[in-house]
Amino acid sequence: MNNSLPNFREARIDDAQKITEIMSRGYHQNWEPDYYRNLISDDNSFVYVLSLVEEIVGFITGKKAEDTCDIYMIVVDIKHRRKGFANLLLHKTIIALSALQIKEFFLEVAETNNQAINLYKKYGFRAVSRRIGYYKISNENIDAIVYRLVKK
Ligand SMILES: CC(C)(COP(=O)(O)OP(=O)(O)OC[C@H]1O[C@@H](n2cnc3c(N)ncnc32)[C@H](O)[C@@H]1OP(=O)(O)O)[C@@H](O)C(=O)NCCC(=O)NCCS
Repeated sequence: MNNSLPNFREARIDDAQKITEIMSRGYHQNWEPDYYRNLISDDNSFVYVLSLVEEIVGFITGKKAEDTCDIYMIVVDIKHRRKGFANLLLHKTIIALSALQIKEFFLEVAETNNQAINLYKKYGFRAVSRRIGYYKISNENIDAIVYRLVKK
């Protein structure tokens, strides 16, 4: 069943539970499903998912403001990594947000998160600043790097 093409779409309220499960399997932080439900129903936020048939394989969230946006997180289910899904999710998200006149994209990433940093650099994101000790991961303070992408 899972050999069909991935489908990119806006998240629905009933996706929140699956998103929480993806987070609990593959990220150091998580929130209750209500956190994702609120994001999904907030007009100023965005939550997109990538699915294979009915299975959500990854998602991206963030917040829009005028022609700029913050990407909060992009997470691919640990079972489905290194298959190009984050690549596709980011690509489709940038197209979708560009169609809403968004031209500037910001995000923060732990300086130790090489997978994500490689992904963002591939898309042309450039480091613009550093937040000292912004993340606490396994009791260690880790700097965040702020990345920015501008689309003409
Ligand atoms: C970062 C993450 C989203 C990448 O998802 P993915 O679907 O495995 O990534 P893709 O297969 O689409 O790979 C896209 C690019 O990301 C980079 N990348 C992904 N996994 C990598 C790894 N293990 N090591 C190094 N680079 C990696 C590469 O540049 C890759 O391009 P390439 O295949 O041409 O080398 C995934 O590892 C993840 O969910 N991590 C946990 C959540 C997280 O840290 N998110 C970012 C901060 S919110």
